[in-house]
This record gives sequence, C-alpha cells and structure tokens, in this order.
Amino acid sequence: MQILEARGVSRYFGGIKALEDVTFRIPRGTITSIIGPNGAGKTTLFNCLIGITKPSKGAVFFCGKDITTMQPHEICRLGIARTFQNIRLFKSMFVLENVVVAQHTRAEYSVMHSIFSTKKFLDTEKSITEKSLEIIEFAGLHEHAHSPSQSLSYGSQKRLEIARALATEPELLLLDEPTAGMNPSETEDIMGLIKKIQSLGITIILIEHDMKLVMNASDFIVVLDHGVKISEGRPDEVCKDPQVIEAYLGKEVVY
Ligand SMILES: Nc1ncnc2c1ncn2[C@@H]1O[C@H](COP(=O)(O)OP(=O)(O)O)[C@@H](O)[C@H]1O
Ligand SMILES: [Mg+2]
Repeated sequence: MQILEARGVSRYFGGIKALEDVTFRIPRGTITSIIGPNGAGKTTLFNCLIGITKPSKGAVFFCGKDITTMQPHEICRLGIARTFQNIRLFKSMFVLENVVVAQHTRAEYSVMHSIFSTKKFLDTEKSITEKSLEIIEFAGLHEHAHSPSQSLSYGSQKRLEIARALATEPELLLLDEPTAGMNPSETEDIMGLIKKIQSLGITIILIEHDMKLVMNASDFIVVLDHGVKISEGRPDEVCKDPQVIEAYLGKEVVY
C-alpha cells in the first residue's frame, strides 16, 4: 500500500527547472532517502509534498487523496509533518513548551474552551503535557524537558525539532538533512531515533548527505540530479547504477 505518490511533479522558478516530471511512490512503513547534489531539487520536492510550494505541473497524493492544492496546515492535519534544513525552533521557549505548542495543532477544542477554562480544556491540556513529555523522552531529551531550548546542543536541538514534528502525530515524517552539521556520534544517535520512529509504524522520507546513514537506514532511495529523477531502488541497486555514480557519487559507495 502506497502512502504517498508524486505524479509528474515539476516546479519552475522563472527559467530554473527546480523539478522536472518527478514521479515516485512511497510504500507505507518504509524509510526512503532522497539524495542528489546541492541544487538538485530535494528541498523543493519536500516543499511540494507538504504544500509550501505548489507544483507548476503534476500532482501529489497522500493515502490516495489528491493534496496538490491543499494548504500546509490542512496537509499537516491529514498526517504529514516535516523538519527544516535549518533549525526553526521557538528558541525562547522551554523544551516542553516547544513540543506542547506543536501538539496543539492536533488538539480538538476551540478558543472558547480555553477562554472559559472548561473541563474539556483542562483535561486536554493535561493530556497534552503528558503526551509531550512522552515524546520528549522518546526523542532522548527527558533530562532537558524544563531547559530553555536555546541551551541545548546543536544535536539536541535537531532532536527537539523531530520531537515537535512527532507531536503532530504524523503518519508520514519528512526530515530535511537531519544530521547536517553533526559529529559522527550525534549522527549515529539520529539514525537510532529514525529507526525507532519507523518501528512506531511511521513512514519516513529523508533528505540526507551522509551516505553511510543513507545506505544503512534506507529501504529505498530516490536520486535527483538537476531536478530530474535519475535513479531509484534499494540501496544496493542505486549505488551500482552507472548514472548515479557518474552524476553524483563519483565512485562506488562503500558501506
Ligand atoms: N524560492 C526559490 N526561488 C528561486 N529559485 C529557487 C527557489 N527555491 C529553490 N530554487 C532553485 O531551485 C533549485 C533547487 O533547489 P533546492 O530544492 O533547494 O535544492 P537542494 O535542496 O537539492 O539543494 C536550485 O537551483 C535553487 O536555486
Ligand atoms: Mg536542500
């Protein structure tokens, strides 16, 4: 069963073809990596999948539903979450607050409930706090729940971003370069976290430069070059593809 399908997605910025006729399907429960050189169109593709950018041509389907023209918040409510290439936390907030705020996108009560502090509102608030603490623990940040977000190390801030995305209870999680700027041990930790997220049944699409992580963590890989999909398949297939080696890897990948 496919959770996501991109069908002939193109995105032009003036004369630049950031994406050209990109088609792929993501099976539920898998980890798929999108790889390719800088400027290949990876982030633009993510933006098209979650409604931040609209494709110039083509369509995106989530669980069989055409989401191409939907707004980002509607797509988030359907169950797709993402993290950004650059950290976008509320840095002045505490770690717990950051996750609580993210979870509110899913809470089912109105502004009136919060104004009048109804029982439903108070119950919801309590369960949101509990759930947020669970997510924080899951992301390995329990020691930092009550710390200011800006006091966290770079690696922990990245994990907090993932925790925030998880708080929206996604079925599909998009991670844009989650290990960028990390040292090898932080990268290893993130890989463990990604695997743990997959074991919850959440489907993951990853933009990633660390080839060791890509080759070890991915079930499937999609390779972009100059906005075009030049290869896709299992890691062992993709790293032997002559077109990939020529365009991107330069030499055969050892992993
Ligand atoms: N908002 C934009 N306006 C103009 N050009 C853009 C915009 N976003 C991306 N591009 C261009 O589209 C191409 C793909 O960029 P991007 O998706 O960021 O690549 P990647 O994430 O693979 O490095 C690049 O040539 C980039 O300069
Ligand atoms: Mg990018």
